[in-house]
Amino acid sequence: MADARAVDRTRSLLRPDTPSTLRADGVLDVRRPENGPTELRAAQRLMRFGPLATIYERAWRPLFRLWMGVSGPTVDVERTFAVRDLGLVDDGTRVVLDVACGPGNFTRFLAESLADAGRRDALVVGLDASEPMLARAARDTARTVRTDSTGSTDLADHVAYVLGDARELPFEDGSVDAVCCYAALYLVPEPMRVFAELVRVLRPGGRLAVMTTVRRGPAVVADAMATAVRPSGLTVFGADDFTDVLHRAGFEAVEQRIHGAAQFVTGRKR
Ligand SMILES: C[S@@+](CC[C@H](N)C(=O)[O-])C[C@H]1O[C@@H](n2cnc3c(N)ncnc32)[C@H](O)[C@@H]1O
Repeated sequence: MADARAVDRTRSLLRPDTPSTLRADGVLDVRRPENGPTELRAAQRLMRFGPLATIYERAWRPLFRLWMGVSGPTVDVERTFAVRDLGLVDDGTRVVLDVACGPGNFTRFLAESLADAGRRDALVVGLDASEPMLARAARDTARTVRTDSTGSTDLADHVAYVLGDARELPFEDGSVDAVCCYAALYLVPEPMRVFAELVRVLRPGGRLAVMTTVRRGPAVVADAMATAVRPSGLTVFGADDFTDVLHRAGFEAVEQRIHGAAQFVTGRKR
């Protein structure tokens, strides 16, 4: 169960008119009933399938990363990319948002990294649209205690989970210090709308870290691949799709790394 202070701090980041109900599992539900259900494609429905949340972190995600090729980064390396690209340890970051956090597999790592860096006032908020994923995230976080020479940190004091839609993030403009979005833009509906939301909620000086798909190989093969996966709800992005948006939005230190069919994009908002 999330700590009451973590929940209160998360509520303080919300836009004023956002409804927020604390569920029994400690997840803050910010969905608007008037928005009704969203029509989901197969890939998006799969993410709301309870058993997937159970096996996601140990079995599904390590397999998925093979998308980057057998010699590509492991999930552990991906996590270190996120910490570095978000500038968590160097930039005095306090409030981090992990969008489409699934079962909290990166959310917890980000919170542990901040705890290890001595950020006692850190808050990491994971947002997702899947109830089973978030129930799992809340449960696993409640079981995690970080111990170092200065004492132990109950991770749940620094982590909160929000049930909502990344296409319409419930947070105020410029309300968070860093935004992470890994392995999700390729399967959300309206990914460029989600990307614009990531940029909107980031404060000036804050950093963004994204990992998603990228078109690779000869155009005819890349086109065929993108077309083949589209009906399932998956998107394969062009190499410039995100960096162009960041340059146009005036970001600095924009970087892109490509591993196999995945791209890692980062930048700092001015
Ligand atoms: C493959 S998981 C990624 C989890 C984690 N970030 C990682 O790197 O392993 C993708 C997540 O995106 C979430 N998702 C899909 N559409 C969403 C939306 N519109 N708003 C919020 N989350 C969404 C799914 O529920 C799923 O948990």
